[in-house]
Amino acid sequence: MHSHELAALIRQVPDYPQPGVVFRDITPLLASPAGFASAVDALVELSPREVDVVVGIEARGFLFGAPVALALGAGFVPIRKPAKLPREVVSVTYELEYGTETLALHTDAFASGARVLIVDDVLATGGTVVAAAELVARLGGELVGVTLLSELAYLGGRGRLVDAGISPVTSLLTFD
Ligand code: PRP
Ligand code: ADE
Repeated sequence: MHSHELAALIRQVPDYPQPGVVFRDITPLLASPAGFASAVDALVELSPREVDVVVGIEARGFLFGAPVALALGAGFVPIRKPAKLPREVVSVTYELEYGTETLALHTDAFASGARVLIVDDVLATGGTVVAAAELVARLGGELVGVTLLSELAYLGGRGRLVDAGISPVTSLLTFD
């Protein structure tokens, strides 16, 4: 499926969840067997080959991170919202386009030195990916890349990742 067809399966919802935000709704893409499969295949193609674990960020990052991990022959590790992981965690609190969030990662989720790929559905301000990279670094993981379904270029998230020294960052779809 061409990228413009995939982009058409992501609906724009103005003023959700608050005025001024144009929300990108991926549920039509997920509901399309051809669209979902094609998006996952393309994300795998964009990703590095040598990956020990894919880290997916709750909740939408799970939907793409898990199938990408299977295709790469890597493990899958969830980064979760507060009070969801049952054992010892490292956590970080950060700002996103529409509020504040905390993310947590099990301290023994992967071994120090593991090659880690972060996967998520959308890069907006970049706060979520910076926070996830911080958690990966705290466990001694080697971040080998960030693969994103989409990027909201007008929010400048990519510049924020560059400033944080996070690379390579690849996104399948860019919304200007
Ligand atoms: C969304 C999205 C990304 C993040 C991007 O998650 O799935 O993880 O926002 O925003 P940022 O680049 O400004 O940090 P959200 O926190 O809405 O949670 P969800 O996946 O549970 O819907
Ligand atoms: N996460 C942060 N900003 C978003 C947006 N505009 N649409 C969908 N998910 C988002």
